[in-house]
Amino acid sequence: MSRTNPRQAPVPARPKRRSRLPLVLLGVGFLVLVIAIAMSVGGEPAATTAPGRDPAMVAAGAELFTANCAVCHGVDLNGTAVGPPLLHPFYAPNHHADEAFQRAVAYGVVPHHWDFGPMLPLAHLTRDDVSKIIAFVRSEQEAAGIFEDPSH
Ligand code: HEC
Repeated sequence: MSRTNPRQAPVPARPKRRSRLPLVLLGVGFLVLVIAIAMSVGGEPAATTAPGRDPAMVAAGAELFTANCAVCHGVDLNGTAVGPPLLHPFYAPNHHADEAFQRAVAYGVVPHHWDFGPMLPLAHLTRDDVSKIIAFVRSEQEAAGIFEDPSH
């Protein structure tokens, strides 16, 4: 007499088919996240073109700034251990006009606001290059709400 355990009723051999949709959705979500992070950590300075500024000038200035000035004044214009922030009321147009930027690059700077020491001239840059850099710096200042030095 065959004794079958009633609790071990034969299970029909039906392969379980689980939907892959949740996995696909998870993968897509992960990809979107990775792309978003990659886009937010780009090495370029954030060239926010302030209203009234020529985007092409600002973009060209951002590139020149990154290559020539960022090492001391910071990629974000907030300064470094060896140079002052340009996003500072000191460098607003009523305190350091555009011509002060041209002179700084052409002749260098005798330190007078900070203790970083002098800035040496960057003679390879033309006035036209510096005009583009100024457009970028002013655009960043305006985006940061720096329009004038109230103490000046
Ligand atoms: C090697 C470091 C270094 C580099 C590179 C550099 N700077 Fe400077 N910059 C300084 C220092 C230091 C000062 C002096 C701050 C002070 O007044 O004490 C200064 C001052 C300035 C000033 C203020 C001038 C003034 O009359 O007070 C401007 C404007 C300026 N830099 C713009 C630039 C621009 C634009 C570039 C790129 C083309 C640049 N700097 C590259 C270090 C640097």
